[in-house]
Amino acid sequence: MRSLRNRLTFMFFAITLLAIAALYVYLAPGLGSRLLGEKLNALVQVARRESPSIARTVGSSESQRVVRSRVIGAAVHSGDRVTLLLVNHVDGRPQLSPVASSTSTPPPFPLAYRAIRAGKLEARTAEIFAEVADPVSHRRAVIVYSTPISDVVSNVAVVRREILVAGGIALLLALLGGYLVAGRLAQRVKRLEQAAERVAAGEFAHPIPVDSRDELGQLAKAFNDMQRQLAQLQSARENFIATASHELRTPIFSLGGFVELLEDEDLDPETRRRFLDQVREQVDRLSKLSVDLLDLSKLEAGSLELREEQVDLGELTRSVSGEFEPALAQHDSHLELRVARTLDAHCDPVRVAQIMRILIDNALTHTASGTRIVVTARRSNGRVMLAVRDNGEGIQAAAARRIFEPFFTADDAQGSGLGLAIASELAGRMAGRLSMASEPGNTVFTLELPA
Ligand SMILES: Nc1ncnc2c1ncn2[C@@H]1O[C@H](COP(=O)(O)OP(=O)(O)OP(=O)(O)O)[C@@H](O)[C@H]1O
Ligand SMILES: [Mg+2]
Repeated sequence: MRSLRNRLTFMFFAITLLAIAALYVYLAPGLGSRLLGEKLNALVQVARRESPSIARTVGSSESQRVVRSRVIGAAVHSGDRVTLLLVNHVDGRPQLSPVASSTSTPPPFPLAYRAIRAGKLEARTAEIFAEVADPVSHRRAVIVYSTPISDVVSNVAVVRREILVAGGIALLLALLGGYLVAGRLAQRVKRLEQAAERVAAGEFAHPIPVDSRDELGQLAKAFNDMQRQLAQLQSARENFIATASHELRTPIFSLGGFVELLEDEDLDPETRRRFLDQVREQVDRLSKLSVDLLDLSKLEAGSLELREEQVDLGELTRSVSGEFEPALAQHDSHLELRVARTLDAHCDPVRVAQIMRILIDNALTHTASGTRIVVTARRSNGRVMLAVRDNGEGIQAAAARRIFEPFFTADDAQGSGLGLAIASELAGRMAGRLSMASEPGNTVFTLELPA
């Protein structure tokens, strides 16, 4: 009973059984009384139609033969039994005596008495007959019509039996149909289950065939979409790990080389200092890389906590630009600040500073020395725009489409290609956006933030 197939089959069976039981309970008992009622009604109609012509013979000079022929004529006409009874009053009590009858069996006197007393037509169904007594000629006579009801009883029995037989067949069909339909459903669910197991085992290559538009078809479609996304995620993750480990391996390998060289005791102080500078540079690169990788993986996992506060961007840009003075001097570059006096934005100051550092660092490292960098901060359409502009060679259109991807680099500067990926993720997390426009001699990165 645990399987979907069995449960569904049982449900089909139970519903059909209930429907048949309801039909039987409603139809079988009511049917007999409805048929009897109709039979009695038909008999009343016969009485209304035939009584006048028989009544005219009562108290007239018509011969017994005529009276009999009218009574029998009415019986033949209607197919029922007809009896005419005369009423004599003895001591004030009515006495009935048959005058003419289409049958030899005695007519039902009790109903005739009741009709005489009531002075109107009376009808009833007795054990084997439906009877109607119609008093005529001012209660001087009463005509009794009767018809057997055995056919109704046997008809009802036949109908009952037919319902049961048809019900039995319907039940068998429900069982068989239910089993087949449920089997097909169960098979489709099973296919989904097997596909889910394959995905759980890390296999994404087999989409489920979508063979219908019903709910299971929709589910299969959604499942295939999920599988495709998982496959993309999986390959993105594999790429990420491969590139990250390669990026980490390069400085570590280089460090190993320098350590080996430094072990040489006969090294002159000048060379030793140069090697030590290289070692420091590689260590800096490694530590920046590890911080960046950690940031990016936290951002992608959604676990980086961001503060939300009103920040004075004027002060923030001034302070971050100040940090770059030594680097600017070394690069022979100049940085110009164009910031509105009061400019508040809704953001995390630490992360906005991080984005600015990434952008200014790029403007320095990916341009020739002597670059002019302009940092502007202004309000526009209810948003705050923070832009870093340089007059370097610019970014080619093909590279421009990919610069926000992790590990993408478009030149031979020794970057690891994580800066812009982190910056654009951070901007998105603060309900902002990072965009870029570039032409030779003019490259602008714009950070848009809610005011
Ligand atoms: N201002 C710019 N001018 C020209 N090219 C740029 C500029 N900013 C970024 N790029 C290009 O976009 C690429 C991606 O930049 P991103 O900051 O993500 O990585 P990176 O600077 O190479 O390395 P990282 O910042 O991680 O040390 C760079 O390699 C560079 O080719
Ligand atoms: Mg960079």
